Amino acid sequence: MAQDSLLLWLWWPRQVTVGCGNIAQNAAATISYVRALMVPPMEGSTRGVSGRQHSHFPVPKNSMRIRPGLRGLLLLIVACGACPNVQAAKKTDAGPKAGDLIGRVMDIGTGQPLGEAMVTLMFPSTTPGPSAVTVFSDASGVFRFSGLPSPLPEAMTIAAGKLGFRQVEPADGRLHLERVPAGQRPQVLLQSVGDIADSVPASAWLSSMPAGDAHEKAITITSCTSCHQFPSPRVRQYAAQIESVSGGPDGDRKAIEEWRKVVRHEAWRTVVKYMRPKHFAVFPLESPVNIDAIDWPTAINADFNFFSARQGDLIAKYLAENFPRNTATLPRDDYKYGAPLGVTSKTVIREYAFPNDALVREMVAAPDSGYFWGADVRRNMIVRLDGATGETKWFKPDYKGSTGPHTIVPDDSGHMWVSMIDNDQFSRFETKKEQWKLWTLRPSNLPDTAAMAGSAIVHDMSIDSRGHLARDKYGKVWVTLVGSNQLGTLDPDTGEVAFYETHHVDGFSAINHLIYGCVISNDRKTVWYSQLNGVVGSVDAKTHKLDKVIPFTEGAGPRRMSLDNKGVLWVPLFGTGQIAKVDMDSGKVVQTIDLPDRGAAPYAVSWDEKRKVVWVANANSDVIYRLDPKTSATTVIPLPRKMAYLRQIGIDQKNGRLVASYGNYPEGSGPSMGVVIDVGD
Ligand code: HEC
Repeated sequence: MAQDSLLLWLWWPRQVTVGCGNIAQNAAATISYVRALMVPPMEGSTRGVSGRQHSHFPVPKNSMRIRPGLRGLLLLIVACGACPNVQAAKKTDAGPKAGDLIGRVMDIGTGQPLGEAMVTLMFPSTTPGPSAVTVFSDASGVFRFSGLPSPLPEAMTIAAGKLGFRQVEPADGRLHLERVPAGQRPQVLLQSVGDIADSVPASAWLSSMPAGDAHEKAITITSCTSCHQFPSPRVRQYAAQIESVSGGPDGDRKAIEEWRKVVRHEAWRTVVKYMRPKHFAVFPLESPVNIDAIDWPTAINADFNFFSARQGDLIAKYLAENFPRNTATLPRDDYKYGAPLGVTSKTVIREYAFPNDALVREMVAAPDSGYFWGADVRRNMIVRLDGATGETKWFKPDYKGSTGPHTIVPDDSGHMWVSMIDNDQFSRFETKKEQWKLWTLRPSNLPDTAAMAGSAIVHDMSIDSRGHLARDKYGKVWVTLVGSNQLGTLDPDTGEVAFYETHHVDGFSAINHLIYGCVISNDRKTVWYSQLNGVVGSVDAKTHKLDKVIPFTEGAGPRRMSLDNKGVLWVPLFGTGQIAKVDMDSGKVVQTIDLPDRGAAPYAVSWDEKRKVVWVANANSDVIYRLDPKTSATTVIPLPRKMAYLRQIGIDQKNGRLVASYGNYPEGSGPSMGVVIDVGD
């Protein structure tokens, strides 16, 4: 029998013979059936995809393997056709095809189906295509994958989750399709849990912390979430060690509490100090700017950091007094997404594993190609990812020495523009010819040292409302320079470069300002920039004079902006978890919108012209937000992984897909993956 007709045979006749029955009974029957058929693990370990350990809803690790003889059956689709939801599906589509997988998520406690559960299939690294695919269940708990590899890889695992639940069946993460009774569909059973500490994002731990009289909370988020999530698992571990100190006379609670207070203050002061040299440790491999190449006074000099000495003191004190004493448990009601989910049964998230030692900060779509492009700041390369096969090709800039590709932006002809944090390099990569063109952007006022201030640190480049590279009316590309708090211009046709001062805030060194994003107005006459510890400002592209200055409270942290095509500048406020809407004509903030989770640390926003919405890339909450400018309402797309640190969202202008990557410092501390999302709207 041909494969397709076998599938049809399985699909259609069973609809009439199998009823849904009592759902709880079905669930219980499935569990005992699955248990009865469990086979012990065979020799040798199973392969998982990179980053699997970071999945939100880990499944137990006692891996089972499927009997080899039954493997061929894995591509069969087993369906409970009499269920009303499947009947409905039957009317609109032709039933399952090879590569389809339909199943159901159930709440084992109530016996009810669970909607809006996230279901992730993870494939072994030898499987072509994405490393993991995620869909969401519909209101009747039904999830549907299509276009899967066929036959399904033996070592594939399934993980289903929902905030407040954990997976209990299959306990080994294997679907064991061959054991599903004829006429039934595979089920994943979740159980409601009282403690959600293991599945919440970093931001959950910030929600109970006070704002502080001097914006200490915002300053802490802005300063401490630029490299890693805050609090990351390591930060929580560090804090737990503080709380576990004992000492003083045995049983003298008062003495221990006094001692802990000292330890809290000293420990947070110490770690803030420890983070200062980390600003040098995060440079690329082979970088001239690294912790071994500089002297100690330079390494701990706050002027070469993203936060000043005063801010460091403020943060240490704030954390000593307010960091949660316990992050080992969190009651189920203490964290919520804060807004409805914006997913449907058609939402598909594809994740592509990069090597663990890669640090692909950003990934974007190349217009009119099936390729995605990412910048690996750590390994001095950019990557081309084929979305269909999952194949990657890595390209090293045509430069002797370290470059640190940082920000990557497509242009209208599909070439990639790449800024580099080392050696003052900026480049264009011709994607078809695979050729580099590099320019040096080095302001003449920079001292000749290898420390941070000796480097321009070429950062973001000017973009238009689609997130594509934008030149001003005079043909110039604009860049922000973190090392000197300047803007730079490049005429790519002549190679001419120039540098301009930006807004200066008293008490901050050049780097302390952390100048960041850059956009060009639609008439291409005005250039806008943001500074995390400063203002959003504009410059006249013709006169190069500073024009508008929009102040923000300290810690607000304006980061990667986007503009729409109606003259609105959208500004993510990293520290306060808000989006500011700026009227570009008047230079005024006309609205400030609170995000559902104020600890989300919105790193970047992207204007989506087709959908007329703003997408928010968050560093700290493992979700993407979709903001509707008309209503200011937000919806949430949960991401399938913990530590899903996002720095940018690219929009594939052709099909509306969202493109991003997880960029955690240090490399390997979180998942190292590219992400492509079919929104399913
Ligand atoms: C420039 C990047 C950067 C910034 C900014 C940063 N960190 Fe870190 N942080 C790191 C790195 C890298 C590590 C990994 C630890 C290591 O390599 O020892 C880390 C680890 C930590 C740890 C765990 C330490 C340990 O030994 O387990 C704590 C706690 C921490 N950071 C707190 C902070 C705080 C508080 C701030 C804000 C004041 C901050 N970080 C800002 C880079 C940074």
